[in-house]
Amino acid sequence: MLLLLFQALFSKSVSAVNNGLAQTPQMGWNNWNSLGCDVSQDLLLDTSRVLLSSGLKDVGYNYVVLDDCWSDGRDNDGYLRPDATKFPRGMKWVADKLHDMGFLFGMYSSAGELTCARYEGSLDHEEKDAEIWAAWDVDYLKYDNCYHMGRFGYPEISFNRYNNMAKALNATGRPILYSLCSWGEDYVHTWGMSIANSWRVSGDIYDHFNRPDALCACDDPRDPHCVAPGTHCSVMNIINKVAPYVDRGQFGGWNDLDMLEVGQGGMDDEEYKAHFSMWAALKSPLLIGADIRRLSSKTLTILNNPAVIAVNQDPLGRSVAQIYRDQHVKKDKYGQGETQIWSGPLWRHDQLVIFLNAADEDLEMTTTLNDVFIHEGPEGSAPQTRDEFDVYDLWADRMEHHTAEQVLAGNHQYKNSWYNSTQTPYKEGLAKADPRLLGKRVGSVGPKHNVLRANVPRHGVRMFRLRNLTGGSPRYAMTKDEL
Ligand SMILES: *[C@@H]1O[C@H](CO)[C@@H](O)[C@H](O)[C@H]1NC(C)=O
Ligand SMILES: *[C@@H]1O[C@H](CO)[C@@H](O)[C@H](O)[C@H]1NC(C)=O
Ligand SMILES: *[C@@H]1O[C@H](CO)[C@@H](O)[C@H](O)[C@H]1NC(C)=O
Repeated sequence: MLLLLFQALFSKSVSAVNNGLAQTPQMGWNNWNSLGCDVSQDLLLDTSRVLLSSGLKDVGYNYVVLDDCWSDGRDNDGYLRPDATKFPRGMKWVADKLHDMGFLFGMYSSAGELTCARYEGSLDHEEKDAEIWAAWDVDYLKYDNCYHMGRFGYPEISFNRYNNMAKALNATGRPILYSLCSWGEDYVHTWGMSIANSWRVSGDIYDHFNRPDALCACDDPRDPHCVAPGTHCSVMNIINKVAPYVDRGQFGGWNDLDMLEVGQGGMDDEEYKAHFSMWAALKSPLLIGADIRRLSSKTLTILNNPAVIAVNQDPLGRSVAQIYRDQHVKKDKYGQGETQIWSGPLWRHDQLVIFLNAADEDLEMTTTLNDVFIHEGPEGSAPQTRDEFDVYDLWADRMEHHTAEQVLAGNHQYKNSWYNSTQTPYKEGLAKADPRLLGKRVGSVGPKHNVLRANVPRHGVRMFRLRNLTGGSPRYAMTKDEL
């Protein structure tokens, strides 16, 4: 029964929302995490120039998304009006500029009477708001959940409130990526894919790896009855929240773990690598949250790792799932500490394995092929346990610090050396086994040597692509692509 359900879910690449967008998780930048309400047309254009010159656009980050605080009430006809100080030339002008540079333009509103920062909201104004965004050539809507006037508390109420905007966007005839920001409320993971391209699974992320905070209220992040999703949710809190329903993401509709904090300063390098790796592997949209105009070379070399992004943009569109969790490890001053192992299928019978060490010390972590393929068949019964794989480390070929410095300084001799997905989409690169997408070969596993082992730094990950050598055994959940 469950098997049949999975087959049905993954057998076609048409999504329920049916606007043709987000066939892989969307990528881009959003100003909120670093700049909040400090928005302007200059910010968007300056940011776009750096996204272009640093190669980030061509590695995949092509949506420039403006968050809250851009509007100035409504005009006499009831249409939203941009703030003339922040956007003196209007939104159509901004959209044109971004399109000229090859970007897509995202905007923000809330399914409430006000937005979260108390600007005009879109509740009961859906048609006019969608109409004006389409007239401005907007390509993306992040749709928040503040001031909804009590219209929540039961899935169908939230569904209807968000569906009104889905219908209004559709009626414009312009494909507009629809990103729900309803904080995981009202079981959005059970209905989001019917009307939207992504849906947030938790309260807002904050720039900490695992510190519990009263503002991210749910003590047990797996509690489905959590009533206050909150605003200070750590990386580990969000990972644990999505763990029970990672399989809900599919072509055209994805679990959204919230925008990236990479480069904001609250986490160390290993923590940011872990954050980025898990977001990629869980098939979350990847929206950079840092201020791109002040990008450090270290931040650049996390965000631009094509071997990790290729996992996020993998043509099979399947998330990793948790295969192991151990909470009996060294705890830190917040009482937090655990280790997890995640595994999931990649296109063409490769497999992704992630060791996530959230314990308060460096650890050696181990798994076996039997466990890596446990979701294909328990206790070594999966046919894949008899296949041979090469093991590739997806962080081994991270861009060198020196190279990143040169790129950020605008030294063009480095410009063409990195992965360019505008030129070679990830699917094509993977089909050609482009070494930049595979990382570095560090060993092999198979029926004779079926143990995978790695030293994993505190609050870090090791991320491995198991590359099929024997052609690959069939899986129960195939896509049309593979048949
Ligand atoms: C509107 O919805 C219809 C029916 O699902 C779909 O075929 C069409 O592509 C959608 N149009 C846009 C612009 O999203
Ligand atoms: C990537 O390829 C596109 C298309 O060929 C090209 O216009 C662009 O300049 C390239 N980007 C970089 C960073 O080299
Ligand atoms: C397994 O990988 C090889 C390259 O190593 C590839 O040629 C082959 O198509 C893959 N097998 C399947 C079933 O996709």
